[in-house]
Amino acid sequence: MSQTSIHKSKIKVVLLEGLHSNAPQLFKDDGYTQIECYDKALSDEELKAVLADANFVGIRSRTKITLDILNHAPKLAAIGCFCIGTNQVDLAAARSHGVPVFNAPFANTRSVAELVLGEMLLLIRGIPEKNAAAHRGQWLKTAKGSHEARGKTLGIVGYGHIGTQLGLLAESLGMQVIFFDILKKLSLGNAQAVASMEQLFAQANIVTFHVPETPQTKNLLNHENIGLLKDEAIVINASRGSVIEIPALVKALQQKKVAGAAVDVFPVEPSSNQQEFLSELIPFDNVILTPHIGGSTLEAQANIGIEVAEKLIHYSNNGSTIGAVNFPQVALPTHTGNYRLLHVHKNKPGVLSQINELFSEESINITAQYLQTYEDIGYVVTDIDRESDENILEKLKLIPGTLRSRILY
Ligand code: NAI
Repeated sequence: MSQTSIHKSKIKVVLLEGLHSNAPQLFKDDGYTQIECYDKALSDEELKAVLADANFVGIRSRTKITLDILNHAPKLAAIGCFCIGTNQVDLAAARSHGVPVFNAPFANTRSVAELVLGEMLLLIRGIPEKNAAAHRGQWLKTAKGSHEARGKTLGIVGYGHIGTQLGLLAESLGMQVIFFDILKKLSLGNAQAVASMEQLFAQANIVTFHVPETPQTKNLLNHENIGLLKDEAIVINASRGSVIEIPALVKALQQKKVAGAAVDVFPVEPSSNQQEFLSELIPFDNVILTPHIGGSTLEAQANIGIEVAEKLIHYSNNGSTIGAVNFPQVALPTHTGNYRLLHVHKNKPGVLSQINELFSEESINITAQYLQTYEDIGYVVTDIDRESDENILEKLKLIPGTLRSRILY
């Protein structure tokens, strides 16, 4: 058995909340043998017990990783959030413990873009109200208000991951794509940037929002500017519930200024499937209401499983922290033939020189060294060209300010 295999066999990986099977499979395929999977989130006491000797943990949104939990997980090297959000983890506490947190911010991008595309096609044909009427026994056979997507203008507010994907999909239908973003963005395909949101409103037949939730994006579409939309425009929001002022949309729907809408996210959302959904948009047949499922597909779940497991394995094998949400970002080459020492420390002057003094005292030759800092911590990775021993690791751990240190074989 190689030293790397022995090392991997000592690493305990805990995967909670019934993660997609491809997550444990990736660890197995990479040679990890101690993988504990749980179908559910655990109570705090159970969590502390399983994390007491765990090196990696994978969670979804229900497991809260607090300072208290981290204090009971002395060997924890990294946390994987197998979802988009990372609010369930105390990120600053994790950082101060030297623990990077990874997530999968873009694994469901395509799912959202496809949902919006489908909704857009249904809305410009007036399908939601025709469908609702048919369910009540009414026959609304008419071409009135029914349009093809080809040649229409799609206005995308927020040209990020989802916005750009959607723009490309819409162009394949023969649509014109315009977008407004606060940052200068590279146009994909034939999409054209416009100078302001107002300009976008004036030109687009369909306006869709793909911005993050920030103080600046609160009520982006509101009572003041909704009148700038083209007559019979279509409005779609699958970003965050705060982005559209719902009463303004309700008024525009009543006045038939807006011909239809699709809303996936709401200012207040039920916390479970058992809780009633309440919205002023419920009475409108021409509004597609969906329960915040823009990114909820089996494919997205599978992608999340792969993306986060890969990031954890990469960090475990190689020390690379690219994609960590709370940690210095260090991209590292493979270290074949070398030993790699990882050292996470408080970001204060003198730590790096003490590390290098130690190597010099031990007559260790450094073949490469990478340093990155982020807020209050520093992360230094050192490749050395001679066989290391645990002794050096123990000495590294004694350097004042050290938060965590690991050796990679
Ligand atoms: P992203 O970060 O890739 O793109 C967001 C874009 O919005 C960026 O280009 C940014 O510069 C731009 N932006 C920020 N403030 C703006 C403003 N005031 N005006 C115009 N543009 C502005 O984000 P991504 O991945 O495309 O996601 C977009 C939204 O979709 C986020 O709110 C996210 O939470 C939401 N989302 C919703 C899902 C659902 O299930 N409905 C699933 C996944 C994401």
